[in-house]
Amino acid sequence: MLTSLVIFISTFVYWSIFFKKYEEDQYPLIIVDGKKAPRLSPLSFHINKSDTDCMSCHVNNQIISINDKNFHSMEMPHEFRDNCMSCHILKI
Ligand code: HEC
Ligand code: HEC
Repeated sequence: MLTSLVIFISTFVYWSIFFKKYEEDQYPLIIVDGKKAPRLSPLSFHINKSDTDCMSCHVNNQIISINDKNFHSMEMPHEFRDNCMSCHILKI
């Protein structure tokens, strides 16, 4: 009983470490001041944009209507940082 419990727990721990590593290989983890940079949802307005394009939506909270669907953009919580997409990587 105890042996199977130990085997079960070690298998579980092994696989959790394995999957965590797998995820990190796919997505580099970017942390600034202890906060994780959120990844970009793959919406049309997040693909192939310049920093100026990004700022036009994220300079403040806005409601953007695209194809009759409303999206709420949120104000950038940090100071201006060049090359947004070096930290905010597109989700795949
Ligand atoms: C057309 C306006 C628009 C542009 C341009 C834009 N965003 Fe967004 N962004 C939004 C909206 C709206 C959301 C909320 C998405 C949702 O509701 O899922 C969002 C969400 C985000 C988020 C939160 C994570 C997420 O995707 O939900 C980050 C970070 C972000 N944007 C950064 C950027 C960066 C960096 C750029 C430039 C490459 C950019 N945005 C360009 C409107 C925009
Ligand atoms: C050095 C890395 C880095 C760069 C470059 C960067 N960001 Fe961020 N961003 C972060 C981190 C980390 C957070 C997490 C929240 C925080 O810092 O308070 C964040 C949060 C955000 C959020 C809030 C997302 C949410 O879900 O609330 C938006 C919007 C955003 N960034 C937009 C931008 C835009 C636009 C640019 C380019 C002008 C940019 N970021 C450049 C690291 C970065």
